[in-house]
Amino acid sequence: MRTQISQPDRSIPVLPAPVEIGHVRLPPRPILLAPMEDVSDPPFRVLCKRYGADMLYTEFISSGGLIYEAEDSLQKLEFGEDERPIGIQIFGGDVDQVREAARIVDAVNPDIIDINFGCPVKKVVCKDGGAGILRNLPKMQRITEAVIEVATRPVTVKTRLGWNDSSIKIVEVARMLEDCGVAALAVHARTRAQLYRGDARWEWFRKIREESGISIPLIGNGDATTPERIKAMFDETGVDAVMVGRGAIGNPWIFRDAKVFMETGEVPPRPSWRERLEVVCEHLTLKCDWLGERKGVLEMRRMYGGYFKGFRNAGKLRAEIMEKGSRDAVIDFLLNFNDDWPETQIAVPAGRPASVGVKRAVLPTSA
Ligand SMILES: Cc1cc2nc3c(=O)[nH]c(=O)nc-3n(C[C@H](O)[C@H](O)[C@H](O)COP(=O)(O)O)c2cc1C
Repeated sequence: MRTQISQPDRSIPVLPAPVEIGHVRLPPRPILLAPMEDVSDPPFRVLCKRYGADMLYTEFISSGGLIYEAEDSLQKLEFGEDERPIGIQIFGGDVDQVREAARIVDAVNPDIIDINFGCPVKKVVCKDGGAGILRNLPKMQRITEAVIEVATRPVTVKTRLGWNDSSIKIVEVARMLEDCGVAALAVHARTRAQLYRGDARWEWFRKIREESGISIPLIGNGDATTPERIKAMFDETGVDAVMVGRGAIGNPWIFRDAKVFMETGEVPPRPSWRERLEVVCEHLTLKCDWLGERKGVLEMRRMYGGYFKGFRNAGKLRAEIMEKGSRDAVIDFLLNFNDDWPETQIAVPAGRPASVGVKRAVLPTSA
């Protein structure tokens, strides 16, 4: 008599599992902050962590800069204990230099060492750094092996689909990197030739998973710019984690919002003016503490677009801030913003509560 084997009950949802990158354990469906030069520094990372980022990456750091002890490269190695788990990202096209840089990175005890094989910038790719290495896979393998040889922690890679449309080798690359011992692979689903143009090609995530047969976590990256798109990347592509870059610039709330959206189907209301301004002022202050006032004020300028997106007169507001040369001048201006731009209102998308006048919403007590 044949034993009846019961079929799995498809009506019971399969719970997403935690994601493990070597010994680093992340919650199910983790959302990571992407490495971004001049953006993913400690001030910004701390804010993203506060609002729910499950793992943080540093900006990329030049291997040569680390070896020759360039001050700005060494500064990028710094992170706080409250930023863990954190990956430090390095780049370079010289095998021995990258190995040496990995030793230096390993000594500062991050959770992960990440190798950048995706940067499209000319001065990086021309020396086989970043995405340049996509034209020389044997060397990519040697660099990866060299880093793994000296690292005492998981090594991950972030790369692109290929150099251009006629040389998309990501399936082969994924297999090769797993064989080297890489603990997770992040893919920005564009080629180097695309730079940031066109849509990220999410269909490749499934192809990578199915055709390469890799079992290490696959981290999807590219155009996951809203809570809805973050959820869609998880749902439609089967990636293990989503990495968010531009969507977090001036919007550290995106991590929290995406988690709430994935759980409830509702995107939380936009942060009030008060919360927004408090975070902007904190971000600016942290930046100035970190980089010195002059550089902090300058670098902060690329954040305002995101922070004030969707508000009427945001363009005028940004233009005015650009003229302020000190931390106090920016903060002073922001705190008095409601007087200068009385007609400004929060632009409320359909279905949300009616618009809130800034005069009422901005710092009513402490301004
Ligand atoms: C300002 C900026 C700086 C970046 N710097 C880095 C970097 O240092 N290392 C890296 O791997 N990618 C870097 N990237 C690429 C992002 O990590 C990410 O792959 C890309 O922006 C696509 O993701 P997104 O659509 O979520 O922004 C940078 C992107 C931007 C916009």
